[in-house]
Amino acid sequence: MIALPQSSPRPGSAILGLGAYEPSRVISNDQMCQWIDSSDEWIRQRTGIVERRWAEPHETILAMAASAAQRALDHAGLTGDQLDGVIVATVTHLEQTPALAVRLAGALGCGPCPAWDISAACAGFCYGLAQADALVRSGVLGHVLVVAGDRLSDMTDLTDRSTAFLFADGAGAAVVGPSPSPRIGPVVWGSDPAQGPTIGQTLDWAEAVSQGRPAHLRMDGQPVFRWATTAMADATRRIMADSGLTPDQLDLFVPHQANNRITDSMLRHLRLPESVQVARSIQRLGNTSASSIPLAIDQLYRAGQVKEGATCLMVGFGAGLVYAGQVALLPAPATPARDQNQSPAAPERPAAPATEPPTLPHQQ
Ligand SMILES: CC(C)(COP(=O)(O)OP(=O)(O)OC[C@H]1O[C@@H](n2cnc3c(N)ncnc32)[C@H](O)[C@@H]1OP(=O)(O)O)[C@@H](O)C(=O)NCCC(=O)NCCS
Repeated sequence: MIALPQSSPRPGSAILGLGAYEPSRVISNDQMCQWIDSSDEWIRQRTGIVERRWAEPHETILAMAASAAQRALDHAGLTGDQLDGVIVATVTHLEQTPALAVRLAGALGCGPCPAWDISAACAGFCYGLAQADALVRSGVLGHVLVVAGDRLSDMTDLTDRSTAFLFADGAGAAVVGPSPSPRIGPVVWGSDPAQGPTIGQTLDWAEAVSQGRPAHLRMDGQPVFRWATTAMADATRRIMADSGLTPDQLDLFVPHQANNRITDSMLRHLRLPESVQVARSIQRLGNTSASSIPLAIDQLYRAGQVKEGATCLMVGFGAGLVYAGQVALLPAPATPARDQNQSPAAPERPAAPATEPPTLPHQQ
């Protein structure tokens, strides 16, 4: 029997650096209401959104992804040529091929490393993190960049008051590398094809081309809301159980920023201790698809709410419907303190002193 050689497994992987990019153009709820029949009060009450950021023409997905990635590399103390793989999660890169990840690898000076895109909508960052973790732990790759980037504003119908106020743009990135112990926990992920029709495009690309009309996002909000509040609370419980953590060992809870009322409902189901810091970046950023989780973590860093080894439970969900989540122990804040779209920022309040982080189990 021929036995083929295998890569040598490593004891663990870790997030070594994180970065994010927020577009420059701020759209308030009042501005949004120029286009749709709604009100600032309705949008705040039903979603928690106060404003969102939309990319200017020069803030392409590639440009935003490259900025977020460079910040993550700086945080990790690495350069692009030290990367061994690039994964980009996006659903708004409007070319089917080539993959955006290949262009990003070129922009970062990565050399001839593997680079590929994944389509997992708002769960894309957690899907990418799961892939990177598995590839690093198995010894297949060394340092892997995971980037989530979307310009949902390109696909938003400004006459559709069931979606226009929700979606926004941005990018976030993480560098994953080898670690002497596991610092990224087991992923819990899945899909629910029966919910497929709830979120999609008004036209596929071929129809958009042949009809000369843009393809927009469409969503049946209520079933998505109901699904998210129950299924995502259940997924979060499983992520916690699989990570071996008890709720009092959790520092940060970062759910996909889809709607503050979904987050509130999950919290009612989960009964997390008050000590857990819950991400609420939707107020400033809206729903930024796959980048919502790294953007929310970046906001927590900038607020001084992340200490070295902080246990962070992430859970993303979106069109498919698909979902994914895991716990990761976060790296120390970068020094000097960072400012958004500059590099890591002045804490609004001091981070708690570092304590010995819990050990996460391997994915079986
Ligand atoms: C989209 C969403 C905010 C809508 O909130 P909702 O509470 O479900 O609102 P409904 O669709 O039930 O509409 C409630 C009322 O507000 C009205 N309404 C709908 N959109 C409105 C708007 N933009 N402004 C003002 N009123 C609006 C409706 O006409 C309805 O009026 P009625 O009671 O007189 O019939 C909510 O369903 C949601 O967040 N869904 C999940 C979205 C999500 O997680 N997406 C994930 C994508 S990754």
